[in-house]
Amino acid sequence: MKIGSIVGMHESLHIRGLDHTPSLSGSIPVNGAKNAALKVMASSILFADPVTVRNVPNIEDIERVADLLRGVGAEVAKRGKHTYTITPPKEADTHLPQEISKRLRASIVLTGPMLARHGEVHFPHPGGCVIGSRPIDLFIEGFKHMGARVKERNGMYHITAPEETGRLHGADIFLRNQSVTATETFMMAAVHADGTTTIKNAATEPEVVELAEFLNSAGARISGAGTHTITIKGVKRALRARGNAHRVIPDRIEAGSFLILGALAGKNVTVTHCEPKHLESLIETLTQAGARIEVENSKLTVSARRGKKQYQPVDIKTHEYPGFPTDLQAPMTVFLTQADGESLVFETIFEGRLNYTESLKAMGADITMMDPHRVLVRGANELRGKTMESPDLRAGLAYVIAALIAKGDSVIHNVYNIDRGYERIEERLGNIGANISRMEAVEV
Ligand code: EPU
Repeated sequence: MKIGSIVGMHESLHIRGLDHTPSLSGSIPVNGAKNAALKVMASSILFADPVTVRNVPNIEDIERVADLLRGVGAEVAKRGKHTYTITPPKEADTHLPQEISKRLRASIVLTGPMLARHGEVHFPHPGGCVIGSRPIDLFIEGFKHMGARVKERNGMYHITAPEETGRLHGADIFLRNQSVTATETFMMAAVHADGTTTIKNAATEPEVVELAEFLNSAGARISGAGTHTITIKGVKRALRARGNAHRVIPDRIEAGSFLILGALAGKNVTVTHCEPKHLESLIETLTQAGARIEVENSKLTVSARRGKKQYQPVDIKTHEYPGFPTDLQAPMTVFLTQADGESLVFETIFEGRLNYTESLKAMGADITMMDPHRVLVRGANELRGKTMESPDLRAGLAYVIAALIAKGDSVIHNVYNIDRGYERIEERLGNIGANISRMEAVEV
């Protein structure tokens, strides 16, 4: 009997390991970036007319943001698998749906456009996976600088723009952490603010740049996106898409994960529809380890090294863009289990983002936790298939990669945590030769 209501939560992936024999081959296209699409969709609240977004990945997190938008009164229409048209509400319900907001950390970005356009927002402390439930102090402080009144009771927030004008005012906001979503939220909050807002120590991720360009194309006045100082001049007029559809940039994390998989198990794997310029740090690190990567305009081709020519160890330290992305730390750690020697992995962005290494150890990897932020990986070790549970989407995909190179079969439970970020992973990896099937859990 089928159990559970959330797609994927009670499903498993069954993966046949390649026994360290590289045999995946062919092309694998990269989808649009989850973390860009989520913000572009949220920004539709700022518009006076419908917003069409193309190249949106068909994944759980996007469906949840669509539900959030519906919850505040937007009409969201999905055309085909990858295009959404969002008609923003004239009068919004300023309460973000609680259940979804609690489950999805990214729901916080909706607070920016809601305050800018509707002057008010109610929401619960956002949550998510193991790393999702982190502080929102930067958001609260920034809104206060912009003149908002913030009330909090039992984990529920109620934020309002200054009563006299109903609009936030421009402010200097210094981000103590280079937070991606805080940068994006304040960019949106400031679009209609009274005066000029400056975000200092802003995040420079490609997703931030994409959002700024999209908003500017519709009438916003944002400059400096992609640098650490972003300036937003408040405009009075609502943004207008005027029928122009926006195409989301390629997902650099998906592309990077496929590249790592190709370097471990590929016999000529080409990752297509990607943006190599967004992956310089990973390409550099893999190259230093001995991978040979052919870089073209929107393609990356790689094969696994074979025989005695093993990969060299390399230390990684996660860093804000353009440094090594935290979202590629787990797949890269799987790669390092196959490098000949000792590599240090230093996770500087998130707490608790190395706990997944316990399962890699159970597969035969030699990994020592030095402290909650650092692990030492000693390779190369053969991995054995195992039954695992996906703790978050990035570690979930790392398990898929580990299971694919291993000897024997693996089962990964809680596919929901992979479906949140990767579309039909079993089919897409199946197209380059992986043997992965999805099974429904049965009640025992
Ligand atoms: N932080 C605070 N206070 C805040 C906000 C953030 O202390 O109010 C801290 C966090 O605890 C963390 C650091 O700032 O230590 C950076 O977190 P950031 O806010 O940049 O993360 P985020 O914006 O919530 C986005 C991506 C993440 C990605 C990070 C880092 C989205 C929806 N999420 O998160 O993606 O790991 O930037 O690049 O864009 C994922 O897709 O799996 C994912 C987790």
